[in-house]
Amino acid sequence: MKIKKVGVLTSGGDAPGMNAAIRSVVRTGIHRGWEMVGVRNGYQGLISENYVNLGVRDVGGILDKGGTMLGSARCLEFKTEEGQRKAVRNLNKHGIDAMVVIGGNGSQTGSLKLHQHDFPVVGVASTIDNDLTGSDITIGVDTALNIALEAVDRLKTTASSHQRAFLIEVMGRDCGYLALMAAIAGGAEQVLIPEVDFEPEDVAETISKAYNKGKEHAIIVVAEGAKYNAERLKEYFAENKDRLGFSIRASILGHIQRGGRPTAYDRTLASRLGAGATAALERGETGVLVGMKKSELATTPLEEVCSTKKPLDLELFELQRILD
Ligand code: ADP
Ligand code: F6P
Repeated sequence: MKIKKVGVLTSGGDAPGMNAAIRSVVRTGIHRGWEMVGVRNGYQGLISENYVNLGVRDVGGILDKGGTMLGSARCLEFKTEEGQRKAVRNLNKHGIDAMVVIGGNGSQTGSLKLHQHDFPVVGVASTIDNDLTGSDITIGVDTALNIALEAVDRLKTTASSHQRAFLIEVMGRDCGYLALMAAIAGGAEQVLIPEVDFEPEDVAETISKAYNKGKEHAIIVVAEGAKYNAERLKEYFAENKDRLGFSIRASILGHIQRGGRPTAYDRTLASRLGAGATAALERGETGVLVGMKKSELATTPLEEVCSTKKPLDLELFELQRILD
């Protein structure tokens, strides 16, 4: 099939660098001679026909902006067979030959549904969680990690002034990647991730050990999906404070990790993956996710992406324990 018109959307949790990916998809698509169309607010826009033509200038000035100029949404209707049929009907009605979907795990499950309805689609790996099979690293991770790291560095100074232990909770849904890397880069005393079981008493031991060694602070990085999150641990320690040495504070970083200027790494990654998506479409390779494997562009079938859990490298967990 000869492609003439291609749509692009961003879906799920936004990630810094999504705009750079949109810009790259649009400009490389136009370079290939195609007409480009943006779909607003993720799959919701496919269903409600919220389409906008995008020229080269329309995606100017967005490279350094966080968020996504197309908007993102979590759309329940697209999870239904009827919603998916309606989306494909609308795409055909508007003469759109193929879609590029920029997003994470859930969004790529949506891409797989389009593919299963015989609509040509290519996914672009984008989520701060870094939990997507098919890409060693995803758009947004580097920026989110640097924001988390800055928080660790800053909290360490105030923790030292007051001889406190800090529980710093980072995002990642049910993946511990961001927490683990922030703990290694920030020199934390301990990291708590969903992939490794622990009890509050293990954390208590780390804190009192740090105190008894004469450290001025203890930094515990907690992944939001860990068995006990920062709030629950804080409650536990409120009842056990006298024997720990340090007093405890919790800091939940939340959405600040998803906002603001993308790093150079995320902008270049997004530019490469966006170009990789239009290259895949030109080759006639659809039903795949474009990601980065061993620093090279790579495509992985969406069936595999959506049915395989990406493993976390637990050697890094061991490294963190040695370096604490
Ligand atoms: P992320 O892409 O960041 O993982 P979500 O898990 O929230 O984000 O998914 C984003 C959107 O992708 C959902 O709101 C929905 O529109 C679509 N989606 C997720 N799962 C499915 C599914 N099983 N079938 C169809 N669409 C889905
Ligand atoms: O998937 C990205 C992410 O930021 C996760 O790390 C987090 O669990 C979730 O999205 C938060 O979702 P929301 O923006 O809907 O609160």
